[in-house]
Amino acid sequence: MEQTFIMIKPDGVQRNLVGEIIGRFEKKGFTLKGLKLVSVDSAFAERHYADLSAKPFFNALVEYIVSGPVVAMVWEGKNVVATGRKIIGATNPAESAPGTIRGDYAIDIGRNVIHGSDAVESARKEIALWFPEGIAEWRSSAHHWIY
Ligand code: PPS
Repeated sequence: MEQTFIMIKPDGVQRNLVGEIIGRFEKKGFTLKGLKLVSVDSAFAERHYADLSAKPFFNALVEYIVSGPVVAMVWEGKNVVATGRKIIGATNPAESAPGTIRGDYAIDIGRNVIHGSDAVESARKEIALWFPEGIAEWRSSAHHWIY
């Protein structure tokens, strides 16, 4: 089953949006497989965003991510990578549709509340980076057609 890595960024944690964000993924029908509140250092944030190291905003992005604790999560379900990105909304909140997390709760691209993997392969790498201890193996006991 497909999995994605979702991170609630420091502004999302400090604005008490954790329950709201988790609720959106739960109510959609996805399954929570990993969850922790962590503070990461610059070296770790630089590894997570390594693909963006040449971007002019790279240092600001790393400073933002290390500015406070983040909530790291693994969510599982059919097409969860692409659908998770739809739930999150466009990267720039100025372009995120109302009803998406960024469309409802963010204004600035540099404080856009949440991260979601952009592809199945990056999800695999991000889950390995953030959850080296592994994630819970569990399956709902509800009927398989109940989301
Ligand atoms: S790019 O340039 O197309 O590769 O970037 P993009 O895919 O739009 O965004 C990748 C991540 O960089 C963050 N980002 C920024 N942070 C701070 N300031 C600025 N100007 C900025 N532009 C993009 C963006 O939120 C993405 O972070 P994640 O955590 O992956 O959503």
